[in-house]
Amino acid sequence: MRDLDVLIVGAGAAGLMCAIEAAKRGRRVLVIDHARKAAEKIRISGGGRCNFTNLHCTPANYLSQNPRFCVSALKRYTQQDFLQMVERHRIPWHEKTLGQLFCDDSAQNIIDMLLDELSKAGGKLQLETSVSALEKADSGFQVKTNHEQLRAKAVVIATGGPSIPKMGASGFGYDVARQFGLDIVPPRAALVPLTFSDTNKDLCKRLAGVSVDALVSFGKTSFREGLLFTHRGLSGPSILQISSYWQEGKPITVDLSPTQDAFEAFRTARTESPKQDLKTVLGQLLPNRLADELSKEFGLKGRLADLSDKVLRRAGEAINRWQLTPVGTEGYRTAEVTLGGVNTKELSSKTFEASKVPGLYFIGEVVDVTGHLGGFNFQWAWSSGHACGQAV
Ligand code: FDA
Repeated sequence: MRDLDVLIVGAGAAGLMCAIEAAKRGRRVLVIDHARKAAEKIRISGGGRCNFTNLHCTPANYLSQNPRFCVSALKRYTQQDFLQMVERHRIPWHEKTLGQLFCDDSAQNIIDMLLDELSKAGGKLQLETSVSALEKADSGFQVKTNHEQLRAKAVVIATGGPSIPKMGASGFGYDVARQFGLDIVPPRAALVPLTFSDTNKDLCKRLAGVSVDALVSFGKTSFREGLLFTHRGLSGPSILQISSYWQEGKPITVDLSPTQDAFEAFRTARTESPKQDLKTVLGQLLPNRLADELSKEFGLKGRLADLSDKVLRRAGEAINRWQLTPVGTEGYRTAEVTLGGVNTKELSSKTFEASKVPGLYFIGEVVDVTGHLGGFNFQWAWSSGHACGQAV
């Protein structure tokens, strides 16, 4: 039986950060992961360049049943703190847009940095290892893995959410929470493309590959970023962002011309060149393929001089306030993150320890804290991992 101070399950972003900090404090730390390689999600993130944080990270960038839960950890380990580690390791990086920081070369740089820090701090990593039993003992926990029996004073669950199962994602964290009677906010796929049926699906299919700058809204929440038509529906950053807020059965609103009021543009064109066709003016506001298809779909055509304000207003609404109701999302297969998870009311926001189960901790994506697109989810993994590593 091996004795440990801290057993961390999950060698992803949060688990590795926690292991580094705990090992630096002299704890005997073992991180285990059932995958063959550590941190596979870091490797594929940001198109292979890892959007590792965001310069403008604040608690407002996170969704949770308790929006204040993330404040303490984000304040104690900030985006600048992580950036300092990146710079100390001389990893070249750049800001892409909206404060999003990416590696210049490869996401592997971030993984190598974390593994290097872990090994220097004296923490151990064991891959292809999974937990078959986890029981509370007199002081700490007894853990059975596929290799051995372990005794650990503290166990940290850092197994992430179930998105992208083929990358090793699992619902293990939720199973452990249930085993110890902790509440779970129902999880669902987020930062995920939206799917449509019938005419909207056909329209999206015909437009597959077209992208446009759009303002996409659900209720009072809006995101202005790229929108991409796909064979199944809509994707692109603005759609992924709104997917975290969208509720089933309700429409989203898409403004395809966020810098221009389309109705005003049509009216001005009618005064200046009344013989022009509405479709031609549409082509000045939108990419040609999109203008063509929307003109067919919504009957947006005819000589401007012959069209009343009422008709032009309706045409403008179709462009600036297009309402469409998704039938669903592409689900965990392509979702970047999972909404919901271990209810924050069960955890200390300072240490991430479960109040009902002393010695048991949950960090990273497995917790009901989900960031916007743009480096915020990794920052949550770093901040929650760091806070827990200081306490465990
Ligand atoms: P993470 O999923 O990283 O790690 C969990 C670990 O636990 C994995 O190594 C897994 O193998 C292991 N595990 C799971 N079940 C286990 C079990 N039963 N036993 C043992 N081990 C187990 N975010 C961002 O900020 N910027 C970005 O650029 C991107 N890009 C991106 C692209 C894609 C395609 C995806 C899917 C996701 C992103 N994300 C992102 C989100 C980001 O990857 C995610 O929020 C973090 O990886 C979460 O970190 P965790 O450490 O909590 O889980």
